[in-house]
Amino acid sequence: MSTSAAVTSQIDRLSPTAREFVEAAPHGLLIANQWGSGNGSEFQTEDPSTGAPICAVAAADPADVDRAVAAAREAFDNGPWTTMAPAERAMLINKLADLIEQDTETLAELEALDNGKPLVMAKIVDVPTAVRHLRYFAGWATKLEGRTIPVTTPNMFVYTRREPVGVCAQIIPWNFPLMMAAWKLAPALAAGCTLVLKPAEQTPLTAIRIGQLAVKAGFPPGVINIVNGDGATGAALVDHPDVDKIAFTGSTAVGREIGKKAGEQLKRVTLELGGKSPNIICDDADLKAAIRGSFQGIYFNTGQACNAGSRLFVHSSVYDEVTSKIAEMADGAGVGASLAEGTQFGPVVSARQFETVNGFIQSGFEEGATAAAGGPAERADDDGYFIRPTLFTDVKPNMKIVREEIFGPVLVASKFDEIEEVAAAANDNPYGLAAGVWTRDIGRAHRLASLLRSGMVYINAWGMADPAAPFGGVKASGIGREMGGENLDAYLETKTVWTNLG
Ligand code: NAI
Ligand code: MG
Repeated sequence: MSTSAAVTSQIDRLSPTAREFVEAAPHGLLIANQWGSGNGSEFQTEDPSTGAPICAVAAADPADVDRAVAAAREAFDNGPWTTMAPAERAMLINKLADLIEQDTETLAELEALDNGKPLVMAKIVDVPTAVRHLRYFAGWATKLEGRTIPVTTPNMFVYTRREPVGVCAQIIPWNFPLMMAAWKLAPALAAGCTLVLKPAEQTPLTAIRIGQLAVKAGFPPGVINIVNGDGATGAALVDHPDVDKIAFTGSTAVGREIGKKAGEQLKRVTLELGGKSPNIICDDADLKAAIRGSFQGIYFNTGQACNAGSRLFVHSSVYDEVTSKIAEMADGAGVGASLAEGTQFGPVVSARQFETVNGFIQSGFEEGATAAAGGPAERADDDGYFIRPTLFTDVKPNMKIVREEIFGPVLVASKFDEIEEVAAAANDNPYGLAAGVWTRDIGRAHRLASLLRSGMVYINAWGMADPAAPFGGVKASGIGREMGGENLDAYLETKTVWTNLG
């Protein structure tokens, strides 16, 4: 078992380019292709591996948000963007993808530093995924076709146009900052919208870097605006009357609030929220693959993934084997600083998440669960927010750790015997983002896939994603889909044109 060693700062571990970015000030707001400090107020972003501040970042107040939305509005209503040929729009999006790809090393370092994820993960997962996402949606810009519609009225030519929805407010979380930025920017830009992006206050650095690259790529002023700040900045953006569409990824609590406001104001909205995704291992599964996949399914990104496989259901005949192996792997996991060699799992993102996740672990013990691995974490003031992969076994359906999203490295495992029984238990939760099935029986796999109430089902795999494959949830996991053609629908309005041919 390896544990973290306290490090005072990781800044010394950065490459010269990443260090130069971090040390350059100000880390401002991007409005109409100009960087500025807004009203002058700032906040510190910190390194979760050490708890030490990294640098100051400009915070946008409602007046700054107003200027950013006005820039997006102006670019949408009067700028060259909306009249630009779709192929040119595609070229700009591809150019941004190329610049991000060329900047992989620096972006990966900044992401690892600011979020706490292992550098190697940022390099092989987060950055290439963001690049692929932009390239996939760049291809859509030239394929947004309407229809001609045969109607009953004689001599009428009816066709539809697919038009951009307008100014988009895009609010993203801290768990995959760069990927989430790409998930939001790419479809909006492909559709011809303009936008104001608000990164999470815990992880603003890679969004600022992307803003720099977007200016370099040559996007016209006002198409991409970036405002930093916390929930107050996000709320000002959501409330702004000139915003046409809101795209939000984050907590279910804030998602409900945004959904309510969008309803009152009749703004278009997509919400990608939390999850408590069930992962089912049947008795006939390839156990080696199931154990490895389930381990990564929960602990990847230190459990901070909306689609984490956080509720494990194992057939009683293989339950002991599966749980003891996962516990052994959890005990051996290398938990450490994001920029240290050999780190498998980094810290959770903040002191607040550390308290929350630890609180869940405590509640597990209070409610009578047994930990086969991990347990409550302790931290010195000068250390990062490290929590070891934790596995609770033989949990009961009404325990808090079983019902609520923990968003940390905590897995709860229980036994089942019958398929119908496990499908009902899996569905007995407010969320419905992802679900997983491990079995060699194709009939059983697809029967479960149809019974599980979730937006995504993984069979003999966990956490797969591709820009072409719709991603999103049912029930309290949100509204709408990201990725694929479905995601574009969220950024387009259909206009029906009637022509009397006389
Ligand atoms: P959060 O929902 O408060 O923050 C997400 C984003 O929304 C951030 O950019 C934040 O500044 C912004 N925001 C916060 N309040 C807002 C408001 N009233 N109006 C508009 N924007 C607002 O999530 P937080 O507090 O960072 O994490 C709490 C929990 O949320 C986590 O423990 C986890 O359960 C869940 N979460 C889920 C994520 C997902 O991928 N679905 C990502 C991050 C958190
Ligand atoms: Mg940070």
